[in-house]
Amino acid sequence: PFNMSCVKGLLESGSLTSLPSEYAFPTSPDDIKFSQEEVIPTIDFSLLTSGTPHQRSKVVQDIGEACCEWGFFMVINHGVSERLRDEMVKVCQSFFDLTEEEKREYAGKQLLDPVRWGTSFNVNVDKTLFWRDYLKVHVHPHFHAPHLPTEFGDISREYCKRSQEVASELLRGISESLGLEASYIHKTMEMELGHQLLVVNCYPPCPQPEVAMGMPPHSDHGLLTLLMQNEICGLQVLHHGNWVPVNPLPNAFLVNTGDHMEIVTNGKYRSVVHRAVLNNKATRISIATGHGPPLDATVSPAPELIDSQSHPPAYRGIKYREYMELQQSKPLHGKTCLNHV
Ligand code: SIN
Ligand code: FE2
Repeated sequence: PFNMSCVKGLLESGSLTSLPSEYAFPTSPDDIKFSQEEVIPTIDFSLLTSGTPHQRSKVVQDIGEACCEWGFFMVINHGVSERLRDEMVKVCQSFFDLTEEEKREYAGKQLLDPVRWGTSFNVNVDKTLFWRDYLKVHVHPHFHAPHLPTEFGDISREYCKRSQEVASELLRGISESLGLEASYIHKTMEMELGHQLLVVNCYPPCPQPEVAMGMPPHSDHGLLTLLMQNEICGLQVLHHGNWVPVNPLPNAFLVNTGDHMEIVTNGKYRSVVHRAVLNNKATRISIATGHGPPLDATVSPAPELIDSQSHPPAYRGIKYREYMELQQSKPLHGKTCLNHV
């Protein structure tokens, strides 16, 4: 139904003085209160990998609390170099700077296309368009990359490998925080063959940022998402009924638990709703890697976290692939895909 131009192309076609009506939300997106005071917890990753046993058990406990309280935490001292991060941000920016002609070969149709460039969320079902262009690349168990810009493959391969290492270590800490052995999630979710998705978001400056939306309120599929961004902020997290704007520390990963973490933990660690808002000054780039089980794995609550008396299973099992398809099949808004018992 929509004229499928990407946001960047729309802006560059010139003469845009106000927001096209397809991007205008019927009601103000700011219908929930703000909270500037609250701050997302910070986790020092180095204590997880090279702390004393005492420091490690303290940080495991902090991770558990962050997962229960927020579903979001910032990870510092993760060992991924600033140089790699800067190169990754730059090469992602360069991808969006390619001509429409060059990007068109990636204008994918299917959810599981290995490399897919697009706009909004799913233009076939979105009722209002989101002011966002994206590049989605399946990077594990099989690595893919667009072949332009030429250095994209090398840089993203390195970046995705490093983010996966950080995610694996965090999953060990999370397993322990649940009272399970460190390798529990890794083993039961077959993470060796797990699915990793790279999602790069580009939010160009918007003529009426308060009327449009970059990404609507939603939760992420998968177990964990690791997010980096350029120097422009825009992410907000729903915390105790308030939107909390996130100002990540430079070079920190922003980590959140996904819907499949909620299923595996039988609701102990819930996925948390977040959204991306816009500005009228500068392009925001955010780079997310989503870490989940293999696409054909069926995810159900962990037997170890079920107690037929006090904690009966709260979610029905579902194949990861089917979950993704379900999420793509309807307008993205809030947590609408979890199948409660
Ligand atoms: C997302 O939630 O997928 C995007 C978040 C962001 O751009 O910060
Ligand atoms: Fe998200």
